[in-house]
Amino acid sequence: TKKMILDLDTGIDDAMAIAYAVGAPDVDLIGMIGSYGNVLVEQGGKNALKILELLGATDVPVYLGESHSSTTDHFDVMPISAQIHGKNGIGEVDLPAAKRQLETTSGVDFLIDAAKQYGKDLILVPTGPMTNLAEALEKAPEIADEIGNVTFMGGALTVEGNVTPYTEANINQDPEAANAVLTSPLHSTMVGLDVTLRTLLTRKETQQWRDLNTKAGTAFADIVDYYIDAYEVTNGQLPGCALHDPLAVGVALDPSFVTTLDLNMKVTTDEGTRGRTIGDQARLNDPNTNVKVGINVDAQRYLKTFMTYLTGLFEK
Ligand code: BDR
Ligand code: CA
Repeated sequence: TKKMILDLDTGIDDAMAIAYAVGAPDVDLIGMIGSYGNVLVEQGGKNALKILELLGATDVPVYLGESHSSTTDHFDVMPISAQIHGKNGIGEVDLPAAKRQLETTSGVDFLIDAAKQYGKDLILVPTGPMTNLAEALEKAPEIADEIGNVTFMGGALTVEGNVTPYTEANINQDPEAANAVLTSPLHSTMVGLDVTLRTLLTRKETQQWRDLNTKAGTAFADIVDYYIDAYEVTNGQLPGCALHDPLAVGVALDPSFVTTLDLNMKVTTDEGTRGRTIGDQARLNDPNTNVKVGINVDAQRYLKTFMTYLTGLFEK
């Protein structure tokens, strides 16, 4: 069984990523790291616990990561994040506080220990800023060769960003951290807007959850309908909401959902194009590429799998 860690800023699509990981067969979810981003770090951690409890996965520990980017000492939620995910991060749906508490060990230390313990059996899926992973790599650079699989949601190579024409939201939160990760020896797969904006969920699917008449089905339908409504306002041309974060979990478990391009990547940190994920010119002729960038996706097959896993969970 594969060991999996999610590092997320829960967030509506992060909540769907949790459900995908809980619902997928043969995954041992050994813990989660709460990040800042869609919400403040503490709120994100508590949301993750609430979602886990709603899904009956009460044995998964949640650790808190950094509360702000590597170059600042403070973080405020962007108004656009509150608009898309709701002020509480989960579509203003009022879930009861989880019985389980947040862990006291830091998320970064938890990640380093897990990399040492599980090595190649470990799958790490960051679906928020890269701050925690960058810090873990700085503290313990050897884990770059130890972790089996890092598949992150973030960036955009063949399409424009969703914060500025150059940058995607997760990368934008901490371009320096993302650049440190992408230019390190760590091998990773990038699940960016290139593929997530082609993997959409509509009210047809959330209605199927609602029709189950279960606590989890109804709560998820309410939470995700908030996100679909917000997408209609902010991304009117899309026929649904993007499954950003759950696609990253899907690709981590089954890479054949996407076709990828092997590249050496970097993130620009200078003004103007800040936060852009782009090929690293300095390593253009280095054949040992370390990033597989998702550029096409079998959205139909993915959506079928997504619905099988989530509906299977919500039925219970
Ligand atoms: C990413 O930004 C966050 O708002 C979402 O949860 C997702 O991880 C999409 O750009
Ligand atoms: Ca996220």
